Amino acid sequence: MKAIRMHSRGGPELLAYEDAPKPALQPGDALVRVIATSITKTELTWDETYIDCDGRPRIPTIPGHEFSGVVDAVTPDVAGVKAGDAVYALSSFCRNGSAAEYIAIRSADLAPKPRTVSFEQAAAVPLAGLTAWQALFDHAQLQKGQRVLIHGGAGGVGTYAVQLASWKDAEVITTASAENHDFLRELGASEVIDYTRERFEETAEDVDVVLDTIGGETQQRSWGILRRGGILISIVSPVSAEKAASLGLRSAFFIVEPKRSQLIELGRLIDAGTLRVIVGAALPLEKAREAFVAGHVRGKIVLQVAATESAKA
Ligand SMILES: NC(=O)c1ccc[n+]([C@@H]2O[C@H](COP(=O)([O-])OP(=O)(O)OC[C@H]3O[C@@H](n4cnc5c(N)ncnc54)[C@H](OP(=O)(O)O)[C@@H]3O)[C@@H](O)[C@H]2O)c1
Repeated sequence: MKAIRMHSRGGPELLAYEDAPKPALQPGDALVRVIATSITKTELTWDETYIDCDGRPRIPTIPGHEFSGVVDAVTPDVAGVKAGDAVYALSSFCRNGSAAEYIAIRSADLAPKPRTVSFEQAAAVPLAGLTAWQALFDHAQLQKGQRVLIHGGAGGVGTYAVQLASWKDAEVITTASAENHDFLRELGASEVIDYTRERFEETAEDVDVVLDTIGGETQQRSWGILRRGGILISIVSPVSAEKAASLGLRSAFFIVEPKRSQLIELGRLIDAGTLRVIVGAALPLEKAREAFVAGHVRGKIVLQVAATESAKA
């Protein structure tokens, strides 16, 4: 099969479009013919990209951990998923990814592809959509009427977080460059702060939840805008529990996990027209390198792996 692979740890210049063996299945796995995959630009810097699930080196490695496609085969012990099913999923970070014509994945991680969107759009949901869901609902337990600040609202995770928080009837404040302000209001933000011109802490206050998708100084400057009992959640770097406790606040840092039930919920919201999927750019698989070095786009960058007509779904 054709795949994007890296033969050593490094940057996008090491991504090679080449022939690779079709993945072998483990018990409980499905083999999926990938139609489209998305990338997360930072994934080439993650340790998990280069190690297997037992912590041993995994080289060459295939990136891309969210995709849509059609099930090609399942192992004999698999029930509930069959060849021909149109699916989408977040795949385990410690196994080879979906920037390839085929991926082997735990069948329990597969969810039915939302019916109303293309394979290309469906591939832009699992990683970013699940991250936003788990941050807001599992970790922050966001409630109706609460005030939430989402940093980087126009990004992959941000576009889902803004919409999901708004769907929960929270008051959504977000940060973005000026050209994304109208777009983010359409997605449900009540206030958008231009982080290139203003310091968000001069506008936002008494916030119940901060979702940090930026890290560094942005994370540090976020403490002061939280109301007592509020929570600072980062998806970028660990947040000090001691500092949170000393301020009467809570904190969390987490790595998104595959979760079929939540993908089904996201799919329902998509099919109901409540959740929009934002694909900022789509490129053929062989142009993966360009995708990794692209500038800011709205939402996700998708790689087209196979023609949609070949999906038979
Ligand atoms: N822990 C996890 O499980 C997990 C899961 C997914 C992603 N992540 C991490 O989360 C981060 C974001 O991922 P992503 O895919 O959403 O990124 P992305 O699509 O590249 O989005 C980044 C967005 O951030 C905005 N931005 C840049 N600097 C900013 C600043 N100082 N303040 C506010 N906004 C700023 C840009 O918006 P404008 O275009 O408006 O300027 C850009 O669109 C990455 O570091 C990624 O590795 C972690």
